[in-house]
Amino acid sequence: MMRQSSLVVVANRLPLDDNVAPDGACEWRRNPGGLASALHSILRQAPATWVGWAGGAGPPRPLPDIGTLRLRSVALTEDELRGYYEGFANSTLWPLYHDAVEPPLFDRGWWETYLVVNRRFAEAAAEVAEQGAAVWVQDYHLQLVPEMLRQMRPDLLIGFFMHVPFPPPELFMQLPRRAELLRGMLGADLVGFQRPQAAHNIAQLATKLLGAQANDRTITLGGRTTRTGAFPVSIDVAEMQALAARPDVVAHARELRGLLGQPRRILLSVDRLDYTKGIEHRLTAYRELLRDGLVKVRDTVLVQVAVPSRERVESYRTLRDRIEGEVGRINGEYGRVGEPAIHYLIQPFDRAELAALYQTADVMVVTPLRDGMNLVAKEFVAAREDGSGALVLSEFAGAADELNDAFLVNPHDVEGLKDTLLRAMEAEPADLATRMERMRAHLRSHDIMAWARDYLSTLDHTGRLAERLARRA
Ligand code: ADP
Ligand code: F6P
Repeated sequence: MMRQSSLVVVANRLPLDDNVAPDGACEWRRNPGGLASALHSILRQAPATWVGWAGGAGPPRPLPDIGTLRLRSVALTEDELRGYYEGFANSTLWPLYHDAVEPPLFDRGWWETYLVVNRRFAEAAAEVAEQGAAVWVQDYHLQLVPEMLRQMRPDLLIGFFMHVPFPPPELFMQLPRRAELLRGMLGADLVGFQRPQAAHNIAQLATKLLGAQANDRTITLGGRTTRTGAFPVSIDVAEMQALAARPDVVAHARELRGLLGQPRRILLSVDRLDYTKGIEHRLTAYRELLRDGLVKVRDTVLVQVAVPSRERVESYRTLRDRIEGEVGRINGEYGRVGEPAIHYLIQPFDRAELAALYQTADVMVVTPLRDGMNLVAKEFVAAREDGSGALVLSEFAGAADELNDAFLVNPHDVEGLKDTLLRAMEAEPADLATRMERMRAHLRSHDIMAWARDYLSTLDHTGRLAERLARRA
């Protein structure tokens, strides 16, 4: 029998290092993705249990605690990995929720697997939650868990948070199992989103599909009310600031500039290799700026960091091929000996290396076609202690609601993207400093702890949950 907790987080992934040391010691793995990055910061010291998948296929592994945080792994078979994670979650829901920028695929078998796996996560959560505990379910992988859990354990306080966009009815209505998915989420007491528009979308859908009584704050169905609202996720600002101030990181940032040939301007992009991130549109804009002589290789470089993601999914494989072909073409046509136009690095970096890159950049280019939040944009701002640097940010990232002193852009409009890149490159330092200071001030009061406090104190009116977390921070 597993020990029980008063706070249980349920997320598809555990933030666990793949290589647990022989002595059982276990390191936090900073999974290159927004969810693990965000939750890592708040749960590291919390007396909670994290239920999730430890990666790979096969039987569950017993996992050591990380400080006061307990880990409970949920095992997936190879077939389940394909049907639930690579299939329904990442080939149906992910593209559909991101404006269908890649066509969503519908496969009836995947749905069955999604059901089975969601039930397994719900059972694991029910097992480790003490009487009256709060269970906080995360993201689109586990949309059925809140309702399943409520059936199993009516005593629990259940929260759900969607890290990715929640689409408008026109898109959601395409889903063959749309009513079940909606009912699943509404099993929660509080459904949180990144942007207010999402709360509006779910209210419309609940009315239309389920006959619920709904507005942008509450949805009443079968005599029970679920609250909804926007809670924009954030980063550990203090951690990034401390990293950026470390003498070795500052020295490394300087060294990187030298290694890049002391260019007048460094443009930087850091993404998971995903078709939602707009990497191809960005490369097209950059190629045309080079072609038209508006950007010269001898004084400007673009550093594109990308980390491989969901590598067995066909659309991700073909995306990688296309990007690598385009980077090769651009470097072949516009690079010079010892001076590539684009430095393309497809590898994970540790936090210190990322902080050094953020400090080196003159222009951070964050241009997703659609993104729930985009934490990279916030990390860049937090790393710019000296107030220099420009942020070019897509209007289609959740972060644009808060960082509206960035150079906002519609990445689908390649001409607009080129103009915005040029404006950011040529901006006056005083203008940049004003913009950066406003964005930094916003982040200081809206960090990851503020997000968790805001969400948990809305979930639990007594404020006990939020208080417990704050004491541990
Ligand atoms: P998503 O959740 O879609 O991956 P976000 O921008 O919200 O996008 O979060 C990405 C997270 O992953 C950030 O915390 C970022 O620092 C991290 N990350 C991105 N690329 C890398 C990389 N190459 N190496 C290590 N971490 C990365
Ligand atoms: O932010 C959306 C998300 O799916 C997160 O749940 C996850 O941390 C990240 O993208 C990375 O994706 P994956 O877990 O599939 O590697």
